[in-house]
Amino acid sequence: MFDGDTTNESFAPHRIRDPQILAFMRKITVREDPVLTARTGAAVPSRITATLVDGQRVSREVDYAPGFAGRPMSRTEVERKFLGNVARRWEQRRTEAILEALWNLERTPELAALLATLRVAKLVIADITQLRRRLVRIRRLEPHEIALHRDVRLRALREAPDSFGENAAEVETRPSSYWEDLTRSVTEPGRHVMFLACEGEAVHGSTYGLRDLQSGDSGRVGGTWVAPSHRRQGIGKGLLQAVVFWAKEQGLRRLRLWAPAASSAALSLYRQSGFADTGHRRLLPTNAALEIVELECSFSQSEPVKSRSQG
Ligand SMILES: CC(C)(COP(=O)(O)OP(=O)(O)OC[C@H]1O[C@@H](n2cnc3c(N)ncnc32)[C@H](O)[C@@H]1OP(=O)(O)O)[C@@H](O)C(=O)NCCC(=O)NCCS
Repeated sequence: MFDGDTTNESFAPHRIRDPQILAFMRKITVREDPVLTARTGAAVPSRITATLVDGQRVSREVDYAPGFAGRPMSRTEVERKFLGNVARRWEQRRTEAILEALWNLERTPELAALLATLRVAKLVIADITQLRRRLVRIRRLEPHEIALHRDVRLRALREAPDSFGENAAEVETRPSSYWEDLTRSVTEPGRHVMFLACEGEAVHGSTYGLRDLQSGDSGRVGGTWVAPSHRRQGIGKGLLQAVVFWAKEQGLRRLRLWAPAASSAALSLYRQSGFADTGHRRLLPTNAALEIVELECSFSQSEPVKSRSQG
């Protein structure tokens, strides 16, 4: 009424205490109109009637306020409101970048990074991390996911070249038949397995469970990798638990693996999950300057496989 708009400024303490506004507020009466209340549907009707000094009455009725289900705000209206709320606080470039990020929220794999940009309190970021932990789902690779398989494996090899016995540049040149065969070998029943840690479409980690072809009751864990942006959130542990569960389900008696001797992260992850040093050492096939350590986890045959959802 006074500003021709409602903005943050309208609620500023000096405005709320403004004698002119307080005097005006005393003339306002709010009354329920049973006719409006009786209306069904999604409408939230409101009528404002102003009685002017000459006795003339001016009335306007609105069934749907902007932003209600019956009258969604347009992109321009939302932006106008957002800019009205923050533009005085943030510099223009920052405001525009955040606005763009918010419009793309559903495609954002990194919610914590966005919140960090917004400089939301650390407490909220910690809550989001907790929430995301619950959103990450460990599932098996599916037979049709050949391209995804290649993509995840190459991401791991490129990002952590000192952790694996294969070289990304060499693996990248392998023909599609290689990925088709490999995918078949980890998705066909009774063979190997590949687990993915997924948050919606995004894959944040992976691992293989490999049956030992020589001995019927042993298996190996290989290629365990978690994207750096998602480490220390329990994903590695979750992937490993999935392989251990799979191994028990398959009737295997033990799982072995090779871990980089220099990686305290990998070694403590495996030790924490029940793997112990076998005493065997080797050099990493792709880098003879690095040593790898063999670890093993044995299960007693009587150990039950508790039912759990793996997706
Ligand atoms: C090793 C790796 C898979 C761990 O994944 P992660 O999701 O970060 O691991 P988690 O969050 O599940 O951690 C589980 C435990 O491992 C240990 N751990 C993980 N990262 C660690 C680190 N950087 N330093 C010390 N301990 C670490 C901790 O004991 C942790 O438990 P806590 O968080 O309760 O203390 C990950 O760091 C990675 O992908 N590294 C590069 C590839 C690699 O080395 N793979 C192993 C090949 S054998």
